[in-house]
Amino acid sequence: MRIVESLAETRAWLAETRAAGELGLVPTMGYLHEGHLSLLRRARAENGRVAATIFANPAQFDKPEDLASYPRDIPRDAAMLREAGCDLLLAPPPGEIYLPGHQTWVEVGDLAAPLEGAHRPGHFRGVATVVLKLFGIFQPDRAYFGQKDAQQLAVIRRMVRDLNQPVEVVGCPTLREPDGLAMSSRNARLGPEERAAAGVLFRALSAARAAWQAGETEAETLRRVMRSVLAGEPLAEPEYVSVADPLTLTELDRAEAGAILSMAVNVGRARLIDNLILPPRGGAAG
Ligand code: PAJ
Repeated sequence: MRIVESLAETRAWLAETRAAGELGLVPTMGYLHEGHLSLLRRARAENGRVAATIFANPAQFDKPEDLASYPRDIPRDAAMLREAGCDLLLAPPPGEIYLPGHQTWVEVGDLAAPLEGAHRPGHFRGVATVVLKLFGIFQPDRAYFGQKDAQQLAVIRRMVRDLNQPVEVVGCPTLREPDGLAMSSRNARLGPEERAAAGVLFRALSAARAAWQAGETEAETLRRVMRSVLAGEPLAEPEYVSVADPLTLTELDRAEAGAILSMAVNVGRARLIDNLILPPRGGAAG
């Protein structure tokens, strides 16, 4: 695996390895875990060449302290990527991605407005802009993103469609810890008690899914189920719970198969998000 910090070295690698075939891209912000590696392995299986990026994109952090404290360990990440079969790692300094005087931004409309967009002003503008830049830098055949960040995936798919990007966006399932907690770089911020408390997100989502499978169709009742499970955990401070339409991400009155249950919850210093898709009635748990 080659490790580079500049776009010039990236371009050189892309030209040198062209004969190796299609390119799969896995963008990350680093401090990798099995969830990230599952994207990498999928990219490895589907492409002749695989590139990953590690870039804690300043433009998508609405709080400077969140960016400053974002966990970072490039040598450890590089070893994990090498092991998973990555060919190139680009880990640039911010000045390599945002040139002085940068003033062009990608704004996705209504899809980026609710949920994370409402609680983190400017977040998706930062995400869409950096992802479009990465597509421009790499011109990948496929790019891999996790369902863990369901709204991010929806926003990126919409941008790709609206801006005619010649890339296939591949959505990948959420990897979880044994207690159901979705793997996340932010979990590293949890102390032992907080880590135990963080299992409440998946318990709340699962309780709402179970209520749906038992016949409940009122979306507000499913939200209430999630809120009441969260209320049982004193260390959990919810920001929102949602039952949303999978295409528009607007709140539903009546739940339906395919709807997205989601939430953002603060546990100690970590802001955690998670989601589940409602399965067809009587279908297997997803
Ligand atoms: P980051 O949070 O590092 O996540 C990188 C990718 O890994 C995202 O597509 C995310 O959805 C996926 N991922 C995270 N946790 C996962 C899990 N438990 N299971 C499966 N996939 C998981 O998301 C970002 O970085 C940034 O916003 C980025 C897209 C890189 C743009 O800066």
